[in-house]
Amino acid sequence: MPDFDAAKSGQFKIGGDLPVHRLGFGAMRITGAGIWGEPADHDEAIRTLKRLPQLGINFIDTADSYGPDVSERLIREALHPYGKDFVVATKGGLTRTGPDVWVPLGRPEYLIQQAHKSLRNLGVDRIDLWQLHRIDSKVPAAEQFDAVKSLIDGGIIRHAGLSEVSVADIEAASKHFKVATVQNRYNLVERTSEDVLDYCQKHNIGFIPWFPLAAGDLAKEGSLLDTIAKKHGAAPSQIALAWVLKRSPVMLPIPGTGKVKHLEENTAAVNIVLSDEEFAALDAEGRKAFKTA
Ligand SMILES: NC(=O)c1ccc[n+]([C@@H]2O[C@H](COP(=O)([O-])OP(=O)(O)OC[C@H]3O[C@@H](n4cnc5c(N)ncnc54)[C@H](OP(=O)(O)O)[C@@H]3O)[C@@H](O)[C@H]2O)c1
Repeated sequence: MPDFDAAKSGQFKIGGDLPVHRLGFGAMRITGAGIWGEPADHDEAIRTLKRLPQLGINFIDTADSYGPDVSERLIREALHPYGKDFVVATKGGLTRTGPDVWVPLGRPEYLIQQAHKSLRNLGVDRIDLWQLHRIDSKVPAAEQFDAVKSLIDGGIIRHAGLSEVSVADIEAASKHFKVATVQNRYNLVERTSEDVLDYCQKHNIGFIPWFPLAAGDLAKEGSLLDTIAKKHGAAPSQIALAWVLKRSPVMLPIPGTGKVKHLEENTAAVNIVLSDEEFAALDAEGRKAFKTA
């Protein structure tokens, strides 16, 4: 066994009662180019998924639209029956008409159909966490939130979350169902959602940053991030991940890869302990880079 374990990232209870290790896995990259169709290397994708429990990762994020269906089916192929403490979260609300094309569709009957389809694809009786992938601006938001509530009431899903939302969106949705998680793009140099993250921390809502490994130009040779990475004997992406994990106790990063080697490298980031000074210096550089981008 390697000397790193995702348990070291700490625990968060989704919805107050569903414990996961904070470092999870994003299962978008186990599909074909443009997140479309089968992966180029099916066996490596399966090996990557099977490695997750061995590394202490017990939280996977996927979506009906990854492939579409491909990611959910591969997760089932590799990991079903899931371990007792293993949580597979999925999403619905984006349609796919081709590689790299994502079109929101929030009509209630579609959201409900897709949640039932995810249930079958994943081979579960109830989805632990289902997230509305996008609020569809062409459909009244209240109708989409009521559809989510009906999925909870019908026992199709246990907890529900949102993706790419503002604080106002979370407050509006909270009038219909308890928002357990929020999934927004966030990393060292992408700080648009600072207010959403603070709101989530205050209300104990899990914040799932997507694209968590990015550090942009901050990773350049000779930069502060590069210097800190060298001091820790780590890759800049590992430092970016360690920074994200330290940023908030409600932070649940889901770095994604279709390769065992990258999965192991990402998980090893749990062993990196950034000092408060390193954290603050990276924070300042990241905010500066974000403002000038
Ligand atoms: N809610 C949303 O709208 C939304 C949008 C996008 C993504 N997501 C979720 O967030 C997850 C993560 O987002 P993401 O995949 O965009 O970003 P990410 O995890 O920050 O980065 C993934 C990219 O980095 C590469 N990579 C991963 N580990 C690496 C390593 N150790 N060394 C070098 N390259 C590495 C991957 O390629 P390889 O496969 O070659 O390793 C892939 O190209 C997704 O899997 C998905 O579950 C959600």
